[in-house]
Amino acid sequence: MRVLVMNTKEFERPFFETACQGSGHELVFVETPLGVHTAPLAAGYEAVCAFANDTIDETVLRHLASNGTKFIALRCAGFNQIDLVAAQKLGLVVARVPAYSPESVAEHALALMLTLNRKTHRAYIRVREGNFSLDGLMGFTMNGKCAGVVGTGRIGGALIEILIGMGCSVLAVDPYPNTACERLGARYVEMDELLEHSDIISLNCPLTPATHHFIDDGAISRMKAGVMLINTSRGKVVDTNALIGGLKSGKIGSVGLDVYEEEADLFFRDFSETVIQDDVFARLLTFPNVLITAHQGFLTREAIQSIAATTMRNIDGFASGNVPTENLVTTAMIAGAV
Ligand code: NAI
Repeated sequence: MRVLVMNTKEFERPFFETACQGSGHELVFVETPLGVHTAPLAAGYEAVCAFANDTIDETVLRHLASNGTKFIALRCAGFNQIDLVAAQKLGLVVARVPAYSPESVAEHALALMLTLNRKTHRAYIRVREGNFSLDGLMGFTMNGKCAGVVGTGRIGGALIEILIGMGCSVLAVDPYPNTACERLGARYVEMDELLEHSDIISLNCPLTPATHHFIDDGAISRMKAGVMLINTSRGKVVDTNALIGGLKSGKIGSVGLDVYEEEADLFFRDFSETVIQDDVFARLLTFPNVLITAHQGFLTREAIQSIAATTMRNIDGFASGNVPTENLVTTAMIAGAV
C-alpha cells in the first residue's frame, strides 16, 4: 500500500523507514501538514498518516475520500483533531497509537516541574555568564508536598508512580479511578478538593467537551496561592487568558506548558527570524515563572520507535483487513472521554 506521511519531521523519518523495511508498503514523506489546502496532495494514496496538530475536519475528509483515501493512520494518541462522525459517514477507517511510551510524557512533566522549581534553566545561563549569585533561585522541596493529578490513565498513572517515589502525597481526579494508582497511594477526590490542596497540579486528561477550559478563572480562584500548574495534555484544557490573569495576580506561582491552545499555528516550526503574531502566547513568554516547551513530551527514542512500529502495524492491519481493535478510533469514543 502507498502511504502519504504528512507533516513529517526530520527526527521521526528514520524510525518510520526502519519500521517499514520488509513490509511491502511504500511510505512517501512530505513536510506539508494536512489541512484544507493540502488535502489534494493525498490524491491516489489509499492511506494517509497524520499527526496531532493536523486539521482533519469534514472538508479535509471529503477531499481525502473523494480522492481515493480509505485509511487515516494517526501517529499520535490524541484524536481530537479529527471529525470522527464525518470519517464514519465517508467510510474512512481511523487508527491511532494509543500507548507508545506514557513514561516519556510523565518524565517530561517531571522535567518541567523540577526545572521550574529549582530554576535550572536560569542557573545554566547565569553560570555560563560568570554569575554565581544564588539570588532568586530558591525552590521548594518536593518531598512532602501535595501533587494533584487530573487524569490518571497511562500518563497520569506513570506520573503518580514518579511523584509517590519522590515522597509527594497525591490527590487524583478521574471519572474512572485507576486501582493501580490507589495501590500506589493516590487518593481520589473531587476536583474542588484537588484544586484547594495541591501544591503542584498536573493535567493528564484528554481534551473533550467536558475538559475544554477545565482550568478557567473559577478553577484558578480555588487553587492554593503559589500553586505550580503543569499541562502536558492538550492546550485547550486550559483557558490561557485565565492563566495569564492567575499569573499576573500572583495566585499561580509557576506554569509549565508542553501544549498551548493555539499551538497549531506555532509549534513544530522555526519562527526565530520572524515576529510572533500571537499576542497571548507572546505575553506568556514574558513571565519569568513560565516555562514552555513545544509539544515535546513524547520526544524520546523509545517513544518514536514505538509510534513507528504501531503505525506500521495499523497500516499492515488495514491492508490485510484487520486493524488491531485496540488501535481503532471510532465515534463511540467521542463521548467516552478517551
Ligand atoms: P489515557 O486515555 O490512558 O488516560 C486519560 C485519562 O483521563 C483516563 O483515565 C480518563 O478516564 C481520564 N479523564 C477523561 N475525562 C476526564 C475528566 N473530565 N477529568 C479527569 N480525568 C478525565 O490517556 P494518556 O495516554 O494518559 O494520555 C492523556 C493525554 O495526554 C492524551 O489524551 C493527550 O491529549 C496527551 N498527550 C500528550 C503528549 C505530549 O507529547 N505532550 C503525548 C501523548 C499524549
